[in-house]
Amino acid sequence: MNASDGPSTPGAVVLPPEVSTGDAPLLRLEHVSKAFPVQSSKLFTRGHEFVHAVDDVSLEVRPGETLGLVGETGCGKSTLARCIARLYDLTSGSINFAGTDISHLSRRQMRPLRSEIQMIFQDPYGSLNPRRRVGSIIGDPFAIHGIDSRTERKKKVQDLMERVGLNPEHYNRFPADFSGGQRQRIGTARALALRPRMVICDEPVSALDVSVQAQIINMLKDLQDDFGLTYIFISHDLSVVRHVSDRIAVMYLGHIVEVAPAAELFEKARHPYTRALLSALPVADPDAADNRERILLVGEIPSPTNPPSGCRFHTRCPKARADCVQTDPELETAFDDGVAHLTACLHPLAIDEDMSLSRPQIDDSEIAAAPDPGPSDSTGDTP
Ligand SMILES: Nc1ncnc2c1ncn2[C@@H]1O[C@H](COP(=O)(O)OP(=O)(O)OP(=O)(O)O)[C@@H](O)[C@H]1O
Ligand code: SF4
Ligand SMILES: [Mg+2]
Repeated sequence: MNASDGPSTPGAVVLPPEVSTGDAPLLRLEHVSKAFPVQSSKLFTRGHEFVHAVDDVSLEVRPGETLGLVGETGCGKSTLARCIARLYDLTSGSINFAGTDISHLSRRQMRPLRSEIQMIFQDPYGSLNPRRRVGSIIGDPFAIHGIDSRTERKKKVQDLMERVGLNPEHYNRFPADFSGGQRQRIGTARALALRPRMVICDEPVSALDVSVQAQIINMLKDLQDDFGLTYIFISHDLSVVRHVSDRIAVMYLGHIVEVAPAAELFEKARHPYTRALLSALPVADPDAADNRERILLVGEIPSPTNPPSGCRFHTRCPKARADCVQTDPELETAFDDGVAHLTACLHPLAIDEDMSLSRPQIDDSEIAAAPDPGPSDSTGDTP
C-alpha cells in the first residue's frame, strides 16, 4: 500500500496508481472510531457502557469517485457518515478533507466546510418542514450563507429544481404535494445548493419503489458528472450499490472487512461475510440460481456494546478457526489481489472455494467476548 501523494498511516486504504486519478484523496480517514455512551443494560450494574458503532476505520476517497458502503443494519454505516460530515465528534482517529484536518474543528470552524460536505438522507420527508414551501426549503442554504438577493435566490432555486427534474413552477408548493421520489429530488436540490464537493447519500433510495429507485440513481449519476461530485453511497442492498459504485467497502460491526473495485468484489469476494451477503442476492436466471452457492449465516449479529474478541465475525463465520478468536485481522491484500482489493480475514477465500461446505472449527467455549475497552477520547456530539 502506498500513496502517490505522500505518506499514509499504516492501515489506511490507499488506491494504487492504476486506479488513481492522479489527484490527492479528497477524503482520508485514519483509524476513525465512534463510541456512544449508553446506560448499562446489565442487571445490578450502574453507570455507562459504550456502543462501539464505528471502530478503527481507515479509508480514502478520490475526487470524482463513488465509494459504496454496505453492511447489515446496525453495522455503523450512518454513524460513519455522520462522523465524516462532522455531525458527530470522533472518539478517536482523524479525518482529513481536501487537505484540512477536520477531526477537531469546532462548529464555528466547520461552518465554511459545511457547504463542501453534504448529506442526502433516506427519509427526505422527515427533514423537510411540512409547513414551508419547497422554494424556501431549497433556498435555505443560500439564505444561511448570506448569498444573493431574494430575486437572485429564486432564480438559483428554480435552476436547481430543473437540474434535479422538478418543475420550477412548483416553487410555491409544500412537501406534501410531492411524491416520495420527488421529495428525494427536493432533498438533493437542497444538498447541491452550495455546490458541495462531496455528497454522502445515506440509503437515498431504500424507501422508494424499484422503478423510482432507478430514476433517482440515474439522476444522482447525471448530477455527479455535471457537478463533478464525489459520492459516498450507503446502502444495505449490494445490488443497488453495485450500479453506482467505483469501489465498495463492506462493513461488519463497526469495522471495514473488505474493500475492492466494484466488479472485482462481485467476482472474487475474499471475506466470508462478503461472500455470504453476495449469496443472498436475487438472481434473474433460474438455472444460475439453482447452481449457486448459498450461505446461511447462523446466529444473531453480536452487540456492538461488547463485540467478540479477535475477528468480530468469528461467532457467525463458517470458516472460523481457533486463531480467529484471538487475532483481529488487518485489512491487507489476499493471494495475488492488487493493492486496491483488501480483506480483513486470517483465512480468506480462494476464488473457486465453495464456502457452503465450510464448517467452523472452534468450540463454543472458545467463543469469548472481549472486555469492553471503553472509548479513548471524548464522545460528545456536535449538535
Ligand atoms: N446516538 C446513538 N446512541 C447510542 N447508540 C447509537 C446511536 N446511534 C447509533 N447507535 C448504535 O450504533 C450502531 C450503529 O448504528 P448505525 O445507525 O450507524 O448503523 P447503520 O449501519 O446505519 O444501520 P441501518 O442500516 O439500520 O441504518 C447500532 O448498534 C446503533 O444502535
Ligand atoms: S478471520 Fe476467521 S472468523 Fe474472521 S472472517 Fe476470516 S475465517 Fe472467518
Ligand atoms: Mg443507517
